[in-house]
Amino acid sequence: MTAHPNLEWLHVARPLADDGFAEEVRRGLSESQKSLPCRFLYDEIGSSLFEQICEVPEYYVTRAERSILQEQSEEIIEMLPNDTALVELGSGSAEKTQLLLEAFLAKQDEVVFLPIDISRSALDASARQLLADHPSLSIVAVEGDYARGLEAISSRDHGPRLILWLGSSIGNLGRDEAAHFLSELRNDLSPEDRLLIGIDLRKDRETLEKAYDDSEGVTARFNLNLLNRINRELGGSFDTELFEHRATWQETPGRVKSDLVSLQAQTVKIVELDLVVEFDEGEAIHTEYSYKYSTDEIDSLAGEALLSRERTWLDAEGRFSVSLFAGC
Ligand code: TRP
Repeated sequence: MTAHPNLEWLHVARPLADDGFAEEVRRGLSESQKSLPCRFLYDEIGSSLFEQICEVPEYYVTRAERSILQEQSEEIIEMLPNDTALVELGSGSAEKTQLLLEAFLAKQDEVVFLPIDISRSALDASARQLLADHPSLSIVAVEGDYARGLEAISSRDHGPRLILWLGSSIGNLGRDEAAHFLSELRNDLSPEDRLLIGIDLRKDRETLEKAYDDSEGVTARFNLNLLNRINRELGGSFDTELFEHRATWQETPGRVKSDLVSLQAQTVKIVELDLVVEFDEGEAIHTEYSYKYSTDEIDSLAGEALLSRERTWLDAEGRFSVSLFAGC
């Protein structure tokens, strides 16, 4: 781990060795509607496949959000008090965050960045890169989950904060869950604090389904990696040739549903769980929802969480939004 005068580490939670993987797989594959929690998609291989998804032409999400930050960072920073510290939920490579940090550094002599992530290696790599590029930056790297990370940060003395939540990660929560999570965040906001959240917008079916099932098959490999992970870690016998990734836009709940569909009737054994799973032809394992929002839906989400939306920025093509919220 890098020792650096401007880098401090806060370890708030040592994640369980397997994060409940075995039990969740047993539960999810024993139900009549099979499903697996999306957080398990992001093992080391999954995380690197996700980085590749962010570069495929059809996955506009990352590029649209980056273009907003490229164009609007100065305007965003102008709306914040001086000496605002930047907190980021699920910072990952912090590649887009750099755009905001640079705008901060143009306005403030010193900037404190507090990335929260469960991946120590992602925190270490991004901190090292950022500190090499920006000597007047200080980083407090918080290794842990969002809730405990925020709690640890809040118990320190601090001035105004901007809490950043990018990548439309909010879309991976149900609408009620999202409102609940935001209201928890809101309880912790002082009057000078702000939230900046990247939220993907509703759009036509074709664009959405292609974004979640790209022609190079990177998204398919990312989703299928979950079956390989079960094979690797739990002694599963999944043949990934006999399953297919499928993305479906569901207009009414307003979400893209990702599934792994069994191409034939088959039986899969998972040795370490002492489990045998039967699949019908066409039967699906559901792995993720990505909820999309209209601006009205963003406002009702904010209303439910007692947040007021101060400003929203869109990319030039109106595909993606970044909004600034305050407590109300
Ligand atoms: N959370 C990201 C999103 O909703 C991740 C993602 C992109 C994803 N493509 C996927 C998750 C396909 C599962 C399947 O945009």
